[in-house]
Amino acid sequence: MPGFSPEIEPDSGPSSNIRHRGPAVRIAIDGPAASGKGTLSRRLAAHYGIPHLDTGSLYRAVGAMVLAAGGHPSDPAAALGAARRLDPDAVEALDIRSSEAGRAASIVAAMPEVRAELLRYQRRFAKGGAVLDGRDIGTVVLPDADVKLFVVASAEARARRRGAELRAAGTDISDAAVLADLTERDARDSGRTVSPLARAADAHLLDTTDLDIEAAFQAALALIEGRHRTGAG
Ligand code: DC
Repeated sequence: MPGFSPEIEPDSGPSSNIRHRGPAVRIAIDGPAASGKGTLSRRLAAHYGIPHLDTGSLYRAVGAMVLAAGGHPSDPAAALGAARRLDPDAVEALDIRSSEAGRAASIVAAMPEVRAELLRYQRRFAKGGAVLDGRDIGTVVLPDADVKLFVVASAEARARRRGAELRAAGTDISDAAVLADLTERDARDSGRTVSPLARAADAHLLDTTDLDIEAAFQAALALIEGRHRTGAG
């Protein structure tokens, strides 16, 4: 990928095939819920030896804080107050993986003030090089990222994956209920006026519907390192 190669070069070592030799490498990964972008982002970050930020966890934390305080996520004052109080380093201590937190996240994420509050932290995080995944990384947070991927999968495949995840974590939920939830969140994330879920013009498209984690990782590496020219770019 042209914007990427001046900053990194293939390395013949066994643990990593990329070596930094310039400004920090920033990778933007966007896509709808349960498209596989989180797992992919973690693998890419480990592969390149750079930190990873799951930006959805910030919105989930804000939503969870509002719920925990007995507020409603559609209350802008409660949402902005939570965004201002958020300690990004303490996010995992909150209950952010439930479908309630996901739904609340999607509601607070539609508020421009909440997004502005979280934007600064995301850009600071990326300064030294990082993989960020979310909905608006390639379009708004890091429009000049070195490489961008837009990860998609069919709604049914995403519902199956998220359903299995939730059930493994002890939630009793059917794939049909997960599908309904994902469809509602997709519509809200793509339809909002501020920073909607969207593919940047220069993002590579990666469809993981028929790929397992390893195959998706290899396909992403191939796109990043320019071995394939599918998608934009
Ligand atoms: O990736 P996720 O499902 O954990 O994200 C939770 C919600 O947060 C999602 O419905 C939309 C919102 N979000 C966003 O608006 N922008 C981001 N960069 C990341 C997440």
